[in-house]
Amino acid sequence: MSTLVVFFSFEGNTKLVGDVIAKTMKADTVELKTSKQYPTEGFGKFFWGGKSVLFGEKPQLINERIDLSKYDTVVIGTPIWAGSFAPPIKSFITQYKMEGKRIALFACHGGGGAKKCFSKLKEAFPENQFIGEIAFVEPKKNSEVSSNEAAKWASEL
Ligand SMILES: Cc1cc2nc3c(=O)[nH]c(=O)nc-3n(C[C@H](O)[C@H](O)[C@H](O)COP(=O)(O)O)c2cc1C
Repeated sequence: MSTLVVFFSFEGNTKLVGDVIAKTMKADTVELKTSKQYPTEGFGKFFWGGKSVLFGEKPQLINERIDLSKYDTVVIGTPIWAGSFAPPIKSFITQYKMEGKRIALFACHGGGGAKKCFSKLKEAFPENQFIGEIAFVEPKKNSEVSSNEAAKWASEL
């Protein structure tokens, strides 16, 4: 059995960390992509993304269907949006059955919300065993330190 690292990344921070975790764990990776494009600049970036979280949107994923039966461990990564996980993760949660999987969580943020985000994710998978969680503050700004931290965490899972 093996590990899947599944994440959404809007601006590359979660991807940076997710790729290090996957490499360390020799895991497969799926970067969730949506047909809906969020604005990438200015006020609209926070407005539309934040609104999408508050309205509980589940944007359509355009990834190929993931065969979760191959994995016993799933590491889920998200940027923190409006104090929660990003909407594509909500899409993932509703589209996939995670029965029996061990789950680890990682999140990237600009300064706050990780605790709440992790507890919401745990609520979304009440039957699963959680084996670890870690948050990073804007890892792209300090990529070497963040990569080392991510690799250490992943190696101990
Ligand atoms: C729509 C939106 C909402 C955000 N909300 C929060 C927030 O509530 N708390 C926070 O600390 N950072 C927030 N951020 C900042 C991101 O979590 C942070 O920049 C993260 O590193 C981005 O990861 P990414 O590059 O993988 O997309 C928000 C960013 C966006 C675009």
